[in-house]
Amino acid sequence: MKHTLVLVLSWTIISYTSCDEIDSLTFPDGFLFGVATSSYQTEGAWNESDKGINMFDSWSHTCPECIRDRSHGDIACDSYHKYKEDITLTKQFGFNYYRFSISWARILPAGFTHYVNEEGIQHYKDIIKYLRKNSIEPMVTIYHYDHPQILEDMGGWTNELMVEWYADYARIIFQEFGPMVKIFTTVNEPQEMCAGYKDNGTAPGKLLPHNIGYYLCIHNLLKAHATAYHIYDEEFRASQNGIISINNPCSGQVLDDSNDTIAADTAFQFYCGMVGHPIYIGDYPPIVKKRVALVSKYQGYHKSRLPRFSPEWISYIKGTADYFALNQYTSEIVHSDPDEARGIYKSDSGITHVRKSTWHNSSIYWLKSVPEGFGNLLRKIKDEYNNPIVYITENGFPDHGELNDLDRINYFRSYLEELIIAVKRDDCRILSYTIWSLLDNWEFGYGYTTPFGIVKVNFNSTSRERTPKLSAYWWTEVIRTHRLQDVPKINDTLAKIESVWKSNHR
Ligand SMILES: *[C@@H]1O[C@H](CO)[C@@H](O)[C@H](O)[C@H]1NC(C)=O
Ligand SMILES: *[C@@H]1O[C@H](CO)[C@@H](O)[C@H](O)[C@H]1NC(C)=O
Ligand SMILES: *[C@@H]1O[C@H](CO)[C@@H](O)[C@H](O)[C@H]1NC(C)=O
Ligand SMILES: *[C@@H]1O[C@H](CO)[C@@H](O)[C@H](O)[C@H]1NC(C)=O
Ligand SMILES: *[C@@H]1O[C@H](CO)[C@@H](O)[C@H](O)[C@H]1NC(C)=O
Ligand SMILES: *[C@@H]1O[C@H](CO)[C@@H](O)[C@H](O)[C@H]1NC(C)=O
Repeated sequence: MKHTLVLVLSWTIISYTSCDEIDSLTFPDGFLFGVATSSYQTEGAWNESDKGINMFDSWSHTCPECIRDRSHGDIACDSYHKYKEDITLTKQFGFNYYRFSISWARILPAGFTHYVNEEGIQHYKDIIKYLRKNSIEPMVTIYHYDHPQILEDMGGWTNELMVEWYADYARIIFQEFGPMVKIFTTVNEPQEMCAGYKDNGTAPGKLLPHNIGYYLCIHNLLKAHATAYHIYDEEFRASQNGIISINNPCSGQVLDDSNDTIAADTAFQFYCGMVGHPIYIGDYPPIVKKRVALVSKYQGYHKSRLPRFSPEWISYIKGTADYFALNQYTSEIVHSDPDEARGIYKSDSGITHVRKSTWHNSSIYWLKSVPEGFGNLLRKIKDEYNNPIVYITENGFPDHGELNDLDRINYFRSYLEELIIAVKRDDCRILSYTIWSLLDNWEFGYGYTTPFGIVKVNFNSTSRERTPKLSAYWWTEVIRTHRLQDVPKINDTLAKIESVWKSNHR
């Protein structure tokens, strides 16, 4: 926040004069589109190029029963070998940028900086060069959950020294790739990453009670993020001139007849606010501090289970985002738990969630299509954090792998319409949109059972061949026209697009 933003890519902010009719189909000028992937979920080559063992190699190999289809990412989409094909598809669909993450254990196989793996460095340089050659902007996530296992053996994110170890790794990333990369995120989704320190749905699967490990993990990740941000500011920004943020997953809230706006705010603060408030306002949200202290006391703790930041850390973390990197999938209706009126505290937030049966189902039970909630969230972020520049860095829908993925197209279309209204009617400053994901991939505890790709990957074949789904052709047309397309109408033209596309790219 300390520097003039968005010098790169000539991403411009358009302001609209209010008019009676909002054109909710056309994207603002300069609006950009991208696709996302992440290292462990797509690249495979788990034991090649002298990569070290990371936390997901260990978890998937030692606890196959933790994963729905008992699978692992040893080969995944084999993007380590097939990245040129992935980038070529990205180019052919017309996307402007490609978000990917760097495997920490491929850069520092032994966890520490005494051994930097040149082969690993070269691999990501090759990817970046190939992107640039195809005029696609790289968007680099420095760390997407997959830290070296040796660091986990030493406590992982419950050990505060991880802050330094991460910072040492991030400095190498800026040194090696910063000259060619203008958009970074430090850490993907602290709140989701840290779930692995309270339940077994993701690695490391440590069942630590009462959110103690979870909060400690978020606490240390925020410090690690801020440290990397300041390293960039002090050592690299002047020469590299890029922008940097942290991917914040936020769910939306939808009100029902009870109109419980207080519960909606509390739910927002307990998830999105855990990362948003320290960075945009300073420290954890007051309601989170108050409630965790209250529930801790009720449980017999002598102090709050939520760690406290010193005033120095509060100001060091505040302001460490050049843009708001938003990952968004779904929403809920929230209420205050009525049991609390009787003095019974069942959760730190005191919030209960409901999902409407009319909301469209995906292949993940909690992930419903709720476009209204997405719009609400975009306006909440605007109001809460003083209308920051937002890049949507993930949004997508898991189905059962159909090539004719009309549910996914419907999801995209309804969410994007909300996005356009938020920009044009409500003046939200949203500059880009990223699809999760380019490819079907390994989704942690769900394995390969919840495909998100606009491109299908045949995981049964050693060549892992890629097949674009209907949504990929729909996107091609959306990007070409800079305009949302109707689902049925576009389906007619898609047959044509598909055959033209196929004859051009045989
Ligand atoms: C890498 O792992 C595969 C199994 O995924 C195994 O077949 C192969 O031998 C291993 N390669 C090396 C160099 O250890
Ligand atoms: C995961 O943890 C739950 C308790 O939270 C337990 O019931 C379940 O058996 C565990 N699953 C595995 C695979 O260990
Ligand atoms: C819901 O609550 C908001 C904020 O308190 C208020 O402005 C609005 O009028 C309420 N709506 C209804 C239908 O009660
Ligand atoms: C979603 O699934 C639930 C339970 O399986 C079902 O009751 C509901 O009708 C489904 N919703 C839609 C919109 O299909
Ligand atoms: C792979 O094979 C299994 C078993 O034959 C089948 O159930 C599954 O659908 C196949 N997956 C893909 C992606 O083709
Ligand atoms: C859409 O087009 C595909 C071919 O690209 C076709 O298989 C499908 O039936 C069409 N769906 C609808 C709803 O028209």
